[in-house]
Amino acid sequence: MKDYKRYLITAALPYANGPVHIGHLAGVYVPADIYVRYLRLKGIDVIFVCGSDEHGVPITIKARQEGVNPKEIVDRYHEMNKKAFADFGISFNIYSRTSNKTHHETASGFFKTLYDKGIFLEKTTKQYFDTEAGQFLADRYITGICPICGNASAYGDQCESCGTSLNATDLKDPKSTLSGSTPELRDTLHWFLPLDKYEDFFKNWILKENKHWKVNVYGQCKSWLNAGLQPRAVSRDLEWGIPVPVEGADGKVLYVWFDAPIGYISATKELTKDWEKYWKDPETRLIHFIGKDNIVFHCIIFPAMLKAEGSYILPENVPANEFLNLEGDKISTSRNWAVWLHEYLEEFPGKEDVLRYVLCANAPETKDNDYTWKDFQTRNNNELVAILGNFVNRSFVLTQKYYNGLIPEPGKLLNSDKKTLAEIAVIKQSVENSLDNFRIRESLKYAMDLARLGNKYLADTEPWAIQKTDPERVKTIIYISLQITANLSALIEPFLPNTAGKLREYLNIERINWTDIGSDEILKPGHHIKKPGLLFDKIEDAAIEAQLEKLNSTKKMNEGSETNAPQQKDLISYDEFMKNDIRIGTILEAEKVPKTKKLMKLKIDTGIDQRTVVSGIAEYFEAEEIIGKQVSILVNLEPRNIKGIESQGMILMAEDTDGSLKFIMPGDKVSNGSVIS
Ligand code: 2FM
Ligand code: ZN
Repeated sequence: MKDYKRYLITAALPYANGPVHIGHLAGVYVPADIYVRYLRLKGIDVIFVCGSDEHGVPITIKARQEGVNPKEIVDRYHEMNKKAFADFGISFNIYSRTSNKTHHETASGFFKTLYDKGIFLEKTTKQYFDTEAGQFLADRYITGICPICGNASAYGDQCESCGTSLNATDLKDPKSTLSGSTPELRDTLHWFLPLDKYEDFFKNWILKENKHWKVNVYGQCKSWLNAGLQPRAVSRDLEWGIPVPVEGADGKVLYVWFDAPIGYISATKELTKDWEKYWKDPETRLIHFIGKDNIVFHCIIFPAMLKAEGSYILPENVPANEFLNLEGDKISTSRNWAVWLHEYLEEFPGKEDVLRYVLCANAPETKDNDYTWKDFQTRNNNELVAILGNFVNRSFVLTQKYYNGLIPEPGKLLNSDKKTLAEIAVIKQSVENSLDNFRIRESLKYAMDLARLGNKYLADTEPWAIQKTDPERVKTIIYISLQITANLSALIEPFLPNTAGKLREYLNIERINWTDIGSDEILKPGHHIKKPGLLFDKIEDAAIEAQLEKLNSTKKMNEGSETNAPQQKDLISYDEFMKNDIRIGTILEAEKVPKTKKLMKLKIDTGIDQRTVVSGIAEYFEAEEIIGKQVSILVNLEPRNIKGIESQGMILMAEDTDGSLKFIMPGDKVSNGSVIS
């Protein structure tokens, strides 16, 4: 590989529509951070950029569900995720966001440059339009019957029941989730990036020049190229996003996958005035760390944009990882099947490095991998505690015990001592070789070999057994053990930055450069080390059982909702929901409606008035037992005539999975007429 002057490392911008979880860390951010810390220790000029991806339809959907503005959603998760990354030591030089001004200007300017160069195709396509809501509908805002499996709630882009990718026009009986109305197809103008024109370029650049890319990345690109590249729309009819900077493009924004990768450029701009050096000088090595679902965007679409613009470099590598599962199931935000970083920190305070270690040791580099809490415990107890912690602790304890914390003067080294010390450089070389090739989990295994080497050395030399008989020899042994420990403090730094910091503190030394690893005289005789604490402690079964229990209840809830609960109805808007006037009222009188099985005639004090409501609850309650109960009542339902009685409202009931009915009651007594919202 050629020698580069500087490195620009990007990590995929996570969507700011939810918190980050272990899958994010394992797939992208921990490997990227390890790599960057390694480069920094080597003294390489590197910047590491990331930020929140704050546009796109999922964010508008989340905002609608909560009845708030998208800005509120992205503000919330931007701060939360920024903090979670910082807590886990992900050492971005900048964690920016795509809703800020620099980004809007940069992405808009990028589009304008391509537009002015005549790169885009302008095409009119047909798209569903909601006449009641007065807007075009993103595919996720349309539901209908899946043409493949008949699922009645398939989305315009995918049927979640059978997994088929769909076009909105494939759906039978399409409905807008905004208004519930049937949308109509209308013409709309969009700008397309003509990927087909770059097909030959990509066949050469990826398939010939980038044969060194990971097999999974190369393979996915190859199958895209074999299938043939098609023009791709880079604009959308949506209100949330960066307006298309062209006259007459009102109501249109840049497609989120057009603006998001430009976020890497805007973040660099914010970070340094010298940003062009990182983006335009071929002496920069650009590397994108991503998950496998982002491959096509980083290997084909973004490079096509950069190439079309003309003044940018292209990525030299895109080491995409596969996915991490949790206890055998796909991590899922909607099913709450995840280990959320903010929750982990509450439950395992101070154990950030343990999670980094486990996620790296188990990183889904070549295939999807499974995270299990048992494995978490085993790796902590049998590796971090028993190998790394144990070796370091023994070196420290013996130094304190025999020499009061002063590094002893070594005697003459035996061949076995020399061999042990020489091994440090060999291990370092293996770590380096793996890191240089993005085999991060392998590199961690090699780094741990240094602690294994230390343990073996102590086990072979048994200083505690000869201290009385051969104290001079023991000085040499402890001296060597401490040099191994000092080397460890640098070698593990990319993987376990907090632990490395603690080690430096106990050793009473400054950070060691990567180039110094392998030295057998980092610590000078007479140097004073501090009284150490433990680097790691055992994780007991109870802590693991608590986590499994938590997942178990999530599973039960999910199973309950999957097997028994009716399917979720179509989405409604906040305004639609607010049309319901639901109050708390008290049942004053109750009597069965004659000649019916189910109906009960109730007199309710609604706080507004006293009114009659007919309700289908007679099979589940006796009249006498419900008088005086507070209930929820929809008071603005149009009156209906039921069996000759005018019913003025509806009592809200919860239907349990066995079909039985229960009242929806306030937790504590409240005034009649209290509004439920
Ligand atoms: O898949 C995702 O989470 C996207 N938000 C990643 C964007 S990466 C880049 F292009 F910004
Ligand atoms: Zn289907």
